[in-house]
Amino acid sequence: MNTKMSNTDTIRGRRSTVLFALIAALLSLVLNLYHFSLQGTGGLYTWHPLLVLKIILFMGLGPLLCAILYLLVVWQGPTWLRTGLRWLSLLVSGIVSLVSLALLAYLIFVPRMGNLETPRLSLINPSQGLEPLVHAAVAAPASPGVTGQDSAGQGSAGQGSAGQGSGAQAPLLKLSFSSDPHWGAETSNAEARSQILQQIARHGSDAFFMLGDTVETGNGVEKWNAALADLGKYIPQVPLRVLLGNHDALFGGEYLYKKAFFPSGFTSDSGSPFYYSVNSRYATIIVLNLPWGTENFGIPQRRWLEKTLAQADHSKPIIVLSHSYFYASGYDDPANGSPWYDHYQNIAKVVPLLEQYKVDLVISGHNHYQELLSYNGVTYAIVGSMGGISDPAPAYVSPASQWIAVGKFGWLDVDVYSDRLLLSFRSETGEVRHQASIPRR
Ligand SMILES: [Fe+2]
Repeated sequence: MNTKMSNTDTIRGRRSTVLFALIAALLSLVLNLYHFSLQGTGGLYTWHPLLVLKIILFMGLGPLLCAILYLLVVWQGPTWLRTGLRWLSLLVSGIVSLVSLALLAYLIFVPRMGNLETPRLSLINPSQGLEPLVHAAVAAPASPGVTGQDSAGQGSAGQGSAGQGSGAQAPLLKLSFSSDPHWGAETSNAEARSQILQQIARHGSDAFFMLGDTVETGNGVEKWNAALADLGKYIPQVPLRVLLGNHDALFGGEYLYKKAFFPSGFTSDSGSPFYYSVNSRYATIIVLNLPWGTENFGIPQRRWLEKTLAQADHSKPIIVLSHSYFYASGYDDPANGSPWYDHYQNIAKVVPLLEQYKVDLVISGHNHYQELLSYNGVTYAIVGSMGGISDPAPAYVSPASQWIAVGKFGWLDVDVYSDRLLLSFRSETGEVRHQASIPRR
């Protein structure tokens, strides 16, 4: 009788222990599958491999391991060991289940809490191209004057003669670019950020492209509201397109990014709100989704990019935009050793296509510098200078580097002429730091 009851209890105990372990492992799996389905998560694990992230990734193995140990001793081990392992397994299963549910709720619900306050902006709908908004834009006062080729930056001159003759002929298209304003970061420079927006409004750009890291942490609605309030205050009439940066994507931030900058009714040629082309009569602008690197550059985006580049009208310049850079000077991350320079993923997977299809200009952020580079016939510009805390002076200088400004804020103007692109790296108050001219090929 006692033996029968004991066997029954053991069978019940074994079943419940295994069941709770499987539930915990399943919840952990669901959490990780959901997290990795979000933009940028793969890059977060690659470029910021924090211990806590690794624990979250593998914690589902804990209950399974405890349950297996319990099963190994359940029939023949000493009572104290059987009882101890059973309770340990149940405890670990309970903790992993609760943590998984809490983190899943955090990823799903935190971005959806609070009201996103969207002001009136002139957002560019990618599928409609630039012209509808360019024609609708109110004429603005004259641009700040060009003051020289290299008045403030470090380094040497850029490519060819810059700016010659640009005063005699109006550009066909005036585009402005900046990146990494980091609204919501205490370390960011709000004054420089506001000055840049005010200057761009005065400059009369046909469009302004903000290349990501709009906010410090993407799942906080208050940070997006701060960004939207400033954009609505300073550049409500400037045609605007905003890319998703690695900070914007953090912990489900893509929900708020889409709500703010890719609202319902917007469409793109790729079908994605994160990568697409924006056509203009005078240029083809291609937006890539590379928040940290190539974590989201799967087969669909690669096929779309190849098709878009192959079918592009090569009588117009092709300008490619991305958050993370390709060639760049930089430094090794003191915390985790990540190399923040010449991007080994983007160079390996994307650069061959840029070179094959003779892209004229690639503009990115991610590193908080202004930099001009050139490699194998493609010009690269880094414009992560919109207010985010400046990166340290580069310990590594890219062989492709031609000019760099460290510890300074500003934006980049690209004036499109029939025979060249004129690049003007400007300070936050509009003075030209450096100019370069890219002849059409
Ligand atoms: Fe940034």
